[in-house]
Amino acid sequence: MSEARTVARLHDEIARRRTFAIISHPDAGKTTLTERLLRAGGAIQLAGNVRAKGERRRTRSDWMGIERDRGISVVTSVMTFEYGGCIFNLLDTPGHEDFSEDTYRTLTAVDSAVMVIDAAKGIEDRTRKLFEICRLRDIPIVTFINKMDREARDPFELLDEIASTLALDTAPATWPVGRAAQFAGTYDLRTRDLRLTSEIGQSDPRMEALGEELDLVRGALPEFDLDSFNAGHLTPVFFGSAMREIGVLDLLDALVAFGPAPRAQATDTRIVQADEPNLTALVFKIQANMDPNHRDRIAFARICSGRLERGMRLKQVRTGKQIPLHAPQFFFARDRQLAEEAYAGDVVGIPNHGTLRIGDTLSESEDVRFTGVPHFAPEILRRVRLDDAMKAKKLRSALTELAEEGVVQLFRPADGSPPIVGVVGTLQLDVLAARLAGEYGVAIGFDSTPYSLARWVSGEKTKLEAFSTAQRSAMAEDLDGDPVFLASSAFMMRRTAEMNEALTFRDIKQIG
Ligand code: G4P
Repeated sequence: MSEARTVARLHDEIARRRTFAIISHPDAGKTTLTERLLRAGGAIQLAGNVRAKGERRRTRSDWMGIERDRGISVVTSVMTFEYGGCIFNLLDTPGHEDFSEDTYRTLTAVDSAVMVIDAAKGIEDRTRKLFEICRLRDIPIVTFINKMDREARDPFELLDEIASTLALDTAPATWPVGRAAQFAGTYDLRTRDLRLTSEIGQSDPRMEALGEELDLVRGALPEFDLDSFNAGHLTPVFFGSAMREIGVLDLLDALVAFGPAPRAQATDTRIVQADEPNLTALVFKIQANMDPNHRDRIAFARICSGRLERGMRLKQVRTGKQIPLHAPQFFFARDRQLAEEAYAGDVVGIPNHGTLRIGDTLSESEDVRFTGVPHFAPEILRRVRLDDAMKAKKLRSALTELAEEGVVQLFRPADGSPPIVGVVGTLQLDVLAARLAGEYGVAIGFDSTPYSLARWVSGEKTKLEAFSTAQRSAMAEDLDGDPVFLASSAFMMRRTAEMNEALTFRDIKQIG
């Protein structure tokens, strides 16, 4: 292929990628919508294949069982399907808020998010939190107001609520025809097309109501503006019913029409454009032992620029190591497949034996590091208690592996006492214990610690050393060997910081 054609192809392939996540409060309909999207893309034959039940309805022990059945979490990590000439990569975010760190990292790998809202409930707690994360990264948001086939709140009121509680402009893209049991379809405000589930005449009361409402909509509400959407200031709003498959194609057509396609990404030195010829990729998730029969470990990498070809070698920028891509993989609803080639926007799974870490940049040539993948200081700190002392060595490596995967954060105390794990939500501790037992055969318990806060400490070398020596019993190292100070209370933390003004205490650490 001539160089000009290669460049044109690269550009076209990247322009048709749509990489997104769905954010919602539990029960708003994320699972149902996911199934409908996959079905529209032909990725699954039957609705109901994604998950049997939403995570909310699982009890704790159910959830653990499912987590052990690794087959299920893998299929939901990333789902690729094709629709309208575009390649969609739908990244799943864990439903439970105890896994918010994982969610945050996943959201670093998307170009847009679909915010699903229950039409009877409006903006709920978890929707707002997830929205805030998207806002931090200026991720464009498309809104889907779901369950319009039920008793719902007034659409104008819902639009108002989104605008006022999220400080986000709203521009309706479609308008519902009929409500609740009479919900019959949608009217596209831009193309003026009707999409109805059955034919209804012009004299139908629903059509008359639509005419009146459209006058109001056009008079009172802003029109869609692409630049504001791309900047994350305005959300187009779609109405529908995932369950009855109304509005789902409106949503997909919109994502095809205005994307966004893979965005430019910040690194430590410069902004990397998606259609640059050289490949760069960011590891945002690691999943080990997905297949219980093979002890495999998959690093999920979002391609940020260029084109991936199976067999190529990439540099792991953190270590300078060359990583050969023998078997990069794509994930579909139920299977995986070797990825012969992939483009910016795609997510590939790279099997490895613990070389790759969350936050790693892979690069074909230049040494750049993507920024913005954080660790948050955990608020729950527990000491790991090992019941069988013979397994100390095994525990050590297992804990390292699971911490690299991001299941928990691991702190090794400077005084040599047993390791401390830090989590944002207690469910992470349950997962850690279950996986140590199930996958590594190591039974553990947790003991309380006197600590309630962890902070990464940095500063000039001699000052840091003096502090570490003086505070030895409260010092630990994280997975990367970076010093961490453990404090018993917020008050202690403030005092320590005041008494050591030359040092910096951080509650967020950038990885990579
Ligand atoms: P989630 O992943 O966001 O937690 O939500 P999920 O899709 O599991 O949907 C939660 C409940 O809402 C389910 O009902 C689902 O069938 C229902 N639902 C989803 N979309 C719509 C819709 O457009 N209209 C109506 N009326 N209901 C919708 P469930 O009874 O809790 O579970 P199930 O027995 O149906 O699985």
